[in-house]
Order: sequence, then C-alpha cells, then structure tokens
Amino acid sequence: MTPLFLTFEGPEGAGKSTLLARLASRLAARGVAHTVTREPGGTPLGTRVREVLLDPALHIDPLPEFLLYSASRAQLVREVLRPALARGEVVLCDRYADSSLAYQGAGRGLDAGLLAALTREATGGLTPDLTVLLDLDPAVGLARAARRGQPDRLEQADLAFHARVRAGFLALAAREPERFLVLDAAREPHALEEDLWRVLEPRLA
Ligand SMILES: Nc1ncnc2c1ncn2[C@@H]1O[C@H](COP(=O)(O)OP(=O)(O)O)[C@@H](O)[C@H]1O
Ligand SMILES: [Mg+2]
Repeated sequence: MTPLFLTFEGPEGAGKSTLLARLASRLAARGVAHTVTREPGGTPLGTRVREVLLDPALHIDPLPEFLLYSASRAQLVREVLRPALARGEVVLCDRYADSSLAYQGAGRGLDAGLLAALTREATGGLTPDLTVLLDLDPAVGLARAARRGQPDRLEQADLAFHARVRAGFLALAAREPERFLVLDAAREPHALEEDLWRVLEPRLA
C-alpha cells in the first residue's frame, strides 16, 4: 500500500467530520487500511490540550493559543501520523497545520513567517498529500455548528474573525493548488463525497 496523508480543513460546521466519516466508511468497505484522527486531539496529550483550547471560560492570547495547537500537533505527528504512514495506511486527519495558519495567522494576526517556521519544527515537515478545504459562508457554518449545542471558545468569536479565517484558507489553497481540493460546502454531503472520491480513488494504490 502507498501511504496517503489526507487532511480536512474549513470553518466550524463546514462538514469536515461528516465528510471524513463518509470517506472512512468507503475505505473500510473496500478494505483499505486507514487511520482516522483529529486535531487538536488524537493522542492522550492532544486530548488534554483540546479541552484547554475549547474551554469557553479561558482567555488564551494568540501566541500561546498557537503554541498549544502546535504542541498537540507535534505529539500527533510522532505518536500517530508517522507510524500510520510508515505502515502504508491512508491517514484521515480532521484539521491540521493549515487550520493554525488560517485561525492564528489570518484570524488572530500572528506573523505568517513565524507560524510557518514553528510549524515546520512541530511537524518535522510532514505535509498532507491532499487537503480537502470545505469552503463555506461562516454564518452558515456557525448556524450548523450551533445545532450541536453550546458554542465552544472558537465558535464564540465574532463573524469578522471567521471571515478572515475563511479568506486565509482560500489564500492557502490558491498558493498550493496541487495540494488543495476546494469544495463548496453548501452542497449536499453525498455530492461532496462523490467529488472527493473521484480525486482520491486514482491515488489509492
Ligand atoms: N454538506 C452539508 N450540508 C448541510 N449540512 C451538513 C453538511 N455536512 C454536514 N452538515 C451538518 O452540519 C453540522 C456540522 O457538520 P460537521 O461535520 O460536524 O462539521 P465540522 O466537523 O466541519 O465542524 C452537522 O449537523 C452536520 O450534520
Ligand atoms: Mg468536526
């Protein structure tokens, strides 16, 4: 098997987890060995860090926020991602480094060069083979996410912040068109799954 590292990016409520679960079922049905994980989280350390990051009661400044995400990411790369890829699996990761560049860079205004340099350290340069960007009007995404219950710390940020995040994601995709698959997340889950499968299937050895 050829290892394949796939990430899912986009705003809250875009449908990342939904599309990822659909793809995982499809891979399972075809007997393709795969690992499903997420950021922040995916490891015992990452899960603890996730609780801190999403806690609405905490104020976290932009730089420590980025460093917490990076800590979770660095652990995930070493404990989960690299070993799964070494086994030749397809790895599906719900958010990864592009989220930090969009949220803490474009959204919070941290320097893009600094974030890129620290991200290279945290990930050891591990970059996705394919990144699915689910692009959606943030108001629509937040309304979808609100149906899940109490908003977490990031869902509570204002709409202007989420608009900058969206623009940040689109700028990343424009810079690396060969890595990104940008999908209009306002479409039906089934249609999104078909579009992704069309791109992915030829790449599964
Ligand atoms: N393509 C879609 N169209 C409409 N609603 C969707 C779509 N994908 C997911 N949803 C719904 O939107 C909500 C958020 O989806 P989710 O997959 O949890 O988003 P994310 O993981 O990106 O935050 C869920 O209630 C889900 O059922
Ligand atoms: Mg999700």
